[in-house]
Amino acid sequence: MSEAKKTIFSGVQPSGKLTLGNYLGAIRNFPILQEEYNCIYCVVDMHAITVRQDPAMLRKQTLEVLAQYIACGLDPEKSTLFIQSHVPAHAELAWVLNCYTMFGEASRMTQFKDKSSKHADNVNVGLFDYPVLMAADILLYQTDMVPVGVDQLQHIELARNIAQRFNGVYSDTFVMPEPYIPKAGAKIMSLADPTRKMSKSDENQNSFVLLMDKPEDIMRKFKRAVTDSDSRIIMSDEKPGVSNLITIYSLATGKSVDEVEKEFAGKGYGEFKPAVGEAVVELLRPIREKTEDLLRNKDYLESVYREGAGKAAYAARKTLDKVYRKVGFVKR
Ligand code: TYM
Repeated sequence: MSEAKKTIFSGVQPSGKLTLGNYLGAIRNFPILQEEYNCIYCVVDMHAITVRQDPAMLRKQTLEVLAQYIACGLDPEKSTLFIQSHVPAHAELAWVLNCYTMFGEASRMTQFKDKSSKHADNVNVGLFDYPVLMAADILLYQTDMVPVGVDQLQHIELARNIAQRFNGVYSDTFVMPEPYIPKAGAKIMSLADPTRKMSKSDENQNSFVLLMDKPEDIMRKFKRAVTDSDSRIIMSDEKPGVSNLITIYSLATGKSVDEVEKEFAGKGYGEFKPAVGEAVVELLRPIREKTEDLLRNKDYLESVYREGAGKAAYAARKTLDKVYRKVGFVKR
C-alpha cells in the first residue's frame, strides 16, 4: 500500500503588495511542492487585520494574492487555495489553543515586539495572539511541513510547543509540523539597508521590489541598491548588500553563487546591479502579466476560492471535532 501523501500548509498576508522577498523566501517553493504533497495554501486575511487595513484595499489585495498564487504556478486542481476568513475553524481552533499557550511564551515572539513598536498606537490583543492563530492554521490540517522564510521560524516553534503540550495532555491529536526553509533566499534583505529584512511595510519605497512593479521601477531600485566601497562581487558576511544581490541574481537566473562570482570577477557594480535588475524583470514579467489577466477574471477567482474553502473546511472540521471531543465539549 502506498503511504498517504504528506501535508503542506502555508499562508501569506494580504496586508500589502507582495515583495520579491515573499516570492524568493516562500511562494517560489509552493508550486514545486504541489507535485508530491497534499498542499494547502491560504490567504490569511484574519492575520492582516492585526494592523489597521483599509477595507476596500484589503478586499482587493486578498484577491491579488490569490491571483499571484496561481500566477506563480499553483494549480487549483492540485493545491487547495482559499481565504482564511472563509473557514471559521481557524478562529475556533485558535480560541482553544489560546488556553494551551502561556502568556510568557507568546510574549517572547520577536515579531510581536517589532510590530508593537512599529504600531505603538495600536498594540491590540490580536497582534499579541497572532502566533496562536498561525498555530491553529497549521495544526488544523495535520500539517507535516510549512514552507516559509526564516522570519517565521519562531512562530512554527511556538506551534510545535502548543501541539506538544496539547498532545501531552490529551494523547496524540496534532501532527508535529516541521519548518521548510529554503537554503537560499530564506531572508532577502532590504535594498536600501541590507542589514534589515526586505519588508512590504518599509517606509522607503526603494527598499523593496514588488511582484507587480513595472520594469523601469525594478531597474531603478536595483541601480540604487546599497552596496559598499569595496567593489568586488563576492559573497561575504562583510558585504551584506552585495551578498543579497548575488543571492537574488543566483535565484533569478538559476546560476550557482560560484558561477555568479566568476561571471562578475573584475567587473564593477556599474555592470552588476543592472544585470540583477534585468534578471529580476525577466523573472517577474510572466508573474505580473498572468496576475493582471487573472484579476480581469473575478468569476474564475471566485470559483477557485469557493471550491478551496469547501475542501479546506472539510479537512479542518475533522481536526476541530477531535479537539472539541478531547477537551470535553458536548457533541453538536
Ligand atoms: P508574511 O505575509 O509576512 O510573508 C509571507 C511569506 O514570505 C516570507 N518572507 C520572506 N522570505 C524571505 N525574505 C524576506 N524578506 C521575506 N519577507 C517575508 C515569510 O517568511 C512568509 O513565509 N505569519 C505569516 C503568515 C502566516 C502563515 C501561517 C505562514 C499565517 N499563518 C501558517 C505559514 C503557516 C506572515 O506574516 O507571512
